Amino acid sequence: MSESVLSSIPDILPLYPLDDMVAFPYMVFPLFLKDEDIAPFENAMRYHNFVALFRRREGQETIQPSTFFDTGTVCKVNQLIKLPEGGAKLSLEGMARVKLEEVLQEDPFILVRIEPVREFAEKSVVSEALMQSLNALLKIALSYGRPLPDDVLKMIDYIDNPARFSDLVALYVTLSLDELQSLLDTVDPIERLKKVYISLTNEVQRLQVRGEVQAEVTKRVGKTQKEYILREQMKHIQEELGEDDSRISEMMELRKKIVAAGMPGEVRKIADKEINRLEKINPASPEYTVSRTYLDYLVGMPWQTATTDNRNINLAEQVLNEDHYDLEKVKERILEYLAVRCLKDSMKGPILCFVGPPGVGKTSLGKSIARALNRKFIRLSLGGMRDEAEIRGHRRTYIGALPGRIIQEIYRCGANNPVFMLDEVDKIGLDFRGDPASALLEVLDPEQNFSFSDHYLDVPFDLSRVMFITTANVIDTIPPPLRDRMEVLNLSGYTDEEKEKIAFRFLIPKEIEENGLASSPPSFEVAAVYRIIRDYTREAGVRNLQRSIASICRKIAKETTQSKPTRELITAAVVEEFLGPRKFFNEVAAEKDRVGVVTGLAWTETGGDIIFVEATLMPGRRELILTGSLGEVMRESARAALSFVRAHCAEWDIPKDIFRNTDIHIHVPAGSIPKDGPSAGITMAAALVSLLTNRPARRDVAMTGEISLSGRVLAIGGLKEKVLAARRAGVKKIVVPARNKVDMMDIPDTVKGDLEFLFVEDVPAAVSHVVQE
Ligand SMILES: Nc1ncnc2c1ncn2[C@@H]1O[C@H](COP(=O)(O)OP(=O)(O)O)[C@@H](O)[C@H]1O
Ligand SMILES: [Mg+2]
Repeated sequence: MSESVLSSIPDILPLYPLDDMVAFPYMVFPLFLKDEDIAPFENAMRYHNFVALFRRREGQETIQPSTFFDTGTVCKVNQLIKLPEGGAKLSLEGMARVKLEEVLQEDPFILVRIEPVREFAEKSVVSEALMQSLNALLKIALSYGRPLPDDVLKMIDYIDNPARFSDLVALYVTLSLDELQSLLDTVDPIERLKKVYISLTNEVQRLQVRGEVQAEVTKRVGKTQKEYILREQMKHIQEELGEDDSRISEMMELRKKIVAAGMPGEVRKIADKEINRLEKINPASPEYTVSRTYLDYLVGMPWQTATTDNRNINLAEQVLNEDHYDLEKVKERILEYLAVRCLKDSMKGPILCFVGPPGVGKTSLGKSIARALNRKFIRLSLGGMRDEAEIRGHRRTYIGALPGRIIQEIYRCGANNPVFMLDEVDKIGLDFRGDPASALLEVLDPEQNFSFSDHYLDVPFDLSRVMFITTANVIDTIPPPLRDRMEVLNLSGYTDEEKEKIAFRFLIPKEIEENGLASSPPSFEVAAVYRIIRDYTREAGVRNLQRSIASICRKIAKETTQSKPTRELITAAVVEEFLGPRKFFNEVAAEKDRVGVVTGLAWTETGGDIIFVEATLMPGRRELILTGSLGEVMRESARAALSFVRAHCAEWDIPKDIFRNTDIHIHVPAGSIPKDGPSAGITMAAALVSLLTNRPARRDVAMTGEISLSGRVLAIGGLKEKVLAARRAGVKKIVVPARNKVDMMDIPDTVKGDLEFLFVEDVPAAVSHVVQE
């Protein structure tokens, strides 16, 4: 402290006691005072604006020198502003250390006599070194984040007075009140520099340790902390956007599902992209639903989920036998097929196609195969399907677009290796909306179906583990490229005896169970079942038989619940009572033989059927009129028959000129059922001969055979179905092309015993069996 300053300080000064601070020389600081404390400072004017600030020792009431610590600081009052709300704000500047000599007055303010403290501010090597070290330490403290005003730093750089330096630095070291006081009490600047140095070193060490700990802690909590902070921020943002918690958890759930779905890499990428998009879409917008539904499909597809196959062929055989009566050949073939698949461990190879009339067990065989293999079963009816999109789906750009039925069904069944039955492939259509058959081709082709692309799904799905089975009533209408991929297994109709066995072993137990009669099951008489088969159904399969049995069971169930006396034995009479008057009559036996009417056999989708070809003659101009929904092939064979009869009219004594002024009309009822095929050729020829010779034809002889213009009888298809139909209709004799003898081994022996087969090579022989002498 310069002498001039010291000499300007009066000996007698007002004193202001400090309680919770220590004032230092060179310290510039504000002080806020209550009204009652202002007095010393107002009176300071009289003492050149100086006032002495001493720290009061704790617990002191009286005012005497010992009340205060030894050293205080004289401050200059630079400014005193009385505040309008009371009290005052002071601006003070520390000037010099002083010691308290004597208390002169207590009221209205303390007046004391002081003695200035003289400091020896000699520069020395020691002070120099200490100052440099302090300077360096300060910079280190600064680097650890200890705040230090810029101007203070600059000042420290150029102050070379150790006394002043020590006091200045002291202000920026974290010290307790007592430490500060002891610094103030220390008169020797070098001592003070040492004390400050020690304190600052401690502080820097503390800062250092704190920094390390903090770094460690930060490192440890860093990751979770960061995530937490990000999530909080995200939450905040979403709240701002009006999105709530449930949305967030929904998305998280969806993300988990995406991970769990086991998608192939490229699909996963698309799913990730889609969910990122979804998160940004407003849930109220229609786009959201579209995106969400799409993701649900992606997530829900069984990319990896498969059922475990049963590879035990014996077990598979047992299952097939449990579910179906007979069908030995078909079952054998199915088992071979399964055995090969198991050995080769792949589903490549031809697709099985079950062909046969309705109700012979095609669909239920498929179900049974699934059961035998322990796979899921899907059945998709293709009947009347005309739109390619039904197979392959619509692109997502269409409103309300959905995947095609293939993907939908696989999604629903939840396994990627089901038995997938495509029912009625022969009924698949084709129109302007594209060709479903070609889409189906892609589904069925083992070279392509490992990456089946559905328009909606838009990512390939592997169908190669699916076992496809198809069914059809007839094979001709299956599109040829599809047919080429299939291995046809024919299932033909059943004889009455077979139906009876199926009824007793399968249908009756099934319906009893189904209708809740298992506790006291009714028993069916054999005659009753035959009654149903013969008088109430006329079919190749057992569908209506099953329906009739079901209907009887329902009626019994109703009686039981109405606690009426129930019938325990189902006799033929009970059948009639329950099912009403018989529905079918023996058309052949009931009718008389007539001229121009011949019994024929047809093969239709529903199996074999009996038809009557009627021919009649009227005045006209040599026209041939054909009616009864006859197909082109059948019309042609009618013309061929007429030509042959005309060409050989002499052999049957038919007057030559009969054709000159007449029209001939051939009609085949029932007119609304479409009929086609060449196999009615000999039947029409016989009808014409009967008509033109005016000789009646035998009703109980049924015919089937194609004719050639030279009069040969050509082989026909579907012999078994036709034979069964003939038997059902009560026919006794059948005229069959000799070339069909090879098919006789398909005909059950019971049937052979009942019917007489008349094999013919040419038309005259065929006609002679029917047209009476
Ligand atoms: N050989 C059979 N043994 C046992 N039940 C049969 C047999 N054939 C058909 N059924 C039964 O007849 C009903 C109709 O069969 P379904 O499979 O629907 O015929 P399709 O699909 O050939 O039209 C089913 O209940 C089926 O179990
Ligand atoms: Mg079916």
